[in-house]
Amino acid sequence: SLKGSEGARPRVGEKVLHLCLFVEANLIREPLVVFVCATTGQGDPPDNMKNFWRFIFRKNLPSTSLCQMDFAVLGLGDSSYAKFNFVAKKLHRRLLQLGASALLPICLGDDQHELGPDATIDPWLGDLWEKVLELYPVPIDLPVIPHGVPLPSKFTLQFLPEAPNPSSKESCLAISDSLGPPSESQPFLAPMVTNQRVTGPSHFQDVRLIEFDITDSGISFAAGDVVLIQPSNSAAHIQQFCHVLGLDPSQCFVLQPREPDVPCPPGLPQPCSVWQLVSQYLDMASVPRRSFFELLACLSPHELEREKLLELSSAQGQEDLCEYCSRPRRTILEVLCDFPHTAGAIPPDYLLDLIPQIRPRAFSIASSLLVHPRRLQILVAVVQYRTRLKEPRRGLCSSWLASLDPKKGPVQVPLWVRPGGLAFPETPDTPVIMVGPGTGVAPFRAAVQERVAQGQTGNFLFFGCRWRDQDFYWGDEWQELEKRGCLTLVTAFSREQGQKVYVQHRLRELGPLVWELLDHRGAYFYLAGNAKYMPTDVMEALMSIFQEEGGLSHPNAATYLARLQRTLRFQTETWA
Ligand SMILES: Cc1cc2nc3c(=O)[nH]c(=O)nc-3n(C[C@H](O)[C@H](O)[C@H](O)COP(=O)(O)OP(=O)(O)OC[C@H]3O[C@@H](n4cnc5c(N)ncnc54)[C@H](O)[C@@H]3O)c2cc1C
Ligand SMILES: NC(=O)c1ccc[n+]([C@@H]2O[C@H](COP(=O)([O-])OP(=O)(O)OC[C@H]3O[C@@H](n4cnc5c(N)ncnc54)[C@H](OP(=O)(O)O)[C@@H]3O)[C@@H](O)[C@H]2O)c1
Ligand SMILES: Cc1cc2nc3c(=O)[nH]c(=O)nc-3n(C[C@H](O)[C@H](O)[C@H](O)COP(=O)(O)O)c2cc1C
Repeated sequence: SLKGSEGARPRVGEKVLHLCLFVEANLIREPLVVFVCATTGQGDPPDNMKNFWRFIFRKNLPSTSLCQMDFAVLGLGDSSYAKFNFVAKKLHRRLLQLGASALLPICLGDDQHELGPDATIDPWLGDLWEKVLELYPVPIDLPVIPHGVPLPSKFTLQFLPEAPNPSSKESCLAISDSLGPPSESQPFLAPMVTNQRVTGPSHFQDVRLIEFDITDSGISFAAGDVVLIQPSNSAAHIQQFCHVLGLDPSQCFVLQPREPDVPCPPGLPQPCSVWQLVSQYLDMASVPRRSFFELLACLSPHELEREKLLELSSAQGQEDLCEYCSRPRRTILEVLCDFPHTAGAIPPDYLLDLIPQIRPRAFSIASSLLVHPRRLQILVAVVQYRTRLKEPRRGLCSSWLASLDPKKGPVQVPLWVRPGGLAFPETPDTPVIMVGPGTGVAPFRAAVQERVAQGQTGNFLFFGCRWRDQDFYWGDEWQELEKRGCLTLVTAFSREQGQKVYVQHRLRELGPLVWELLDHRGAYFYLAGNAKYMPTDVMEALMSIFQEEGGLSHPNAATYLARLQRTLRFQTETWA
């Protein structure tokens, strides 16, 4: 299909090659490739790109390998991380090195931008299409789909006259029968055992210690690993959504892709009820992107609403869109309520094109199997904040988890585990310095439990919170371990005195000890928590320790830190 749209951005029937499935050696035959890649960890390629990464960096690839290829690289990143779009930048350089020709400069999408990655991607796509159409003009005999006409939906929903018998064979989860540990396509439904508020009742921040039972799940983990949790929408939001779209939540349907090679979303039951689709799949609590308004305008039968939607999806309307949605963090559900005539007319077939899928959220595992066998604990800060909108904004997953109460009846949460960004030394006497303010302490709770159980010594924990009697997570446990000589705890209670005291201040105060541990005793240094300012501040503190205690010049201190990073003696796990 080919679609003419604003700013000459036709949608051609492009071929999407998933690099995890693509035979890399075939790249030498591709004349034009657009690479879209995120950066994860500490400047690492995502899991599904790892094979490709190894391939493309093979030393024996001749420098003319890709000289037949035109390419463009679109990076997805977040400028609050030190290695902003590192993978995309490195890939761009490597493709040039292998003889490929860049059609246009690399695009660096940034989650931190007010308009999200679209702010840079939209203009870049305009340029990309211009270049591509110069090379591959639209064939004259191919009809152009006029602006305002939607492309066919990706799926069709075939509604069933009556709900299927739940015991019938058809009514099973659309998940594979693969063996092996739980994964995104086959999560484990973990019974929640406890959900306990661990901040003081009057403290503004609600933080929960949540425990799951993972008996017979096939799940295993070590300190530093991460659990992924697939949240659901709240019942109130599901009802509101169904009401405004005129959907019957109890109706059942069978989902069918229009194109044979498009897989159905993993985890959705077949047949599926509208309630299941809306609760488990449609991310109506997210802030809509420009493409949402573009498609909604195409689907709108109401002139006034359509005009407004077109305005918000136009290039000139981006400041208005920012003011209406991005700044106040207005959600898809709230937008649909603001455009009721359009919402009521959305053909159900388009729901999965219009509304993104709910993504799983990661949490650092806070317990060790050596101390809590068959259990998995996490420490969750419930996200809630205000904007100019009347209703407070609530994080989807953390609020959903907080709302679950195992005391009122059985609760199950879909989850699976993957390695995190932190790995701890196995030797018995290598010291570890762990810096984890706030919920950043979670992975270090697992590490301390594991290390103490294995008799590993040299455990140094720097913990920061606001007040010792409000948000000092596991305070009693740390003090008990200190008494037993298993842990050295250093605290920074930021609001207990006139001036702020943070973990980096304590590091500086203990500079001689930190230098001695790192330089003479081969210590590993770990940092976890909020990605915003804390990691940079802590790294600056380390740099000044290297200069003051180690007598290094500024460039030598930077080289020292880089060497620690390269040899995995400096590791971080931070989240935005
Ligand atoms: C490897 C890793 C480990 C993690 N470990 C933990 C952990 O141990 N404990 C933990 O609590 N979290 C942890 N997180 C974060 C967690 O994954 C979720 O991002 C967090 O719980 C929020 O999810 P949510 O669905 O509740 O919020 P969402 O619905 O995803 O909303 C969060 C978004 O709201 C916006 N936002 C939040 N606060 C504000 C504000 N004040 N002003 C404006 N916008 C704001 C931001 O855009 C933010 O991305 C970890 C993340 C990663 C990647
Ligand atoms: N969006 C943001 O920028 C942001 C920032 C922080 C927290 N939060 C939210 O708050 C919740 C809990 O966050 P959290 O567990 O990461 O930590 P937290 O509970 O917010 O903070 C833990 C401790 O870190 C201190 N701190 C603040 N800035 C610091 C810095 N630059 N360097 C070192 N320490 C610093 C805090 O002090 P003071 O508060 O006294 O300054 C506090 O004592 C989460 O929901 C998170 O989303 C959001
Ligand atoms: C654990 C984690 C680590 C990240 N590390 C980086 C990083 O080092 N550099 C960067 O530019 N972005 C980083 N990001 C941001 C992601 O690249 C960005 O959010 C991207 O849009 C994610 O795409 P995905 O949702 O398809 O994985 C990180 C995100 C997470 C959750």
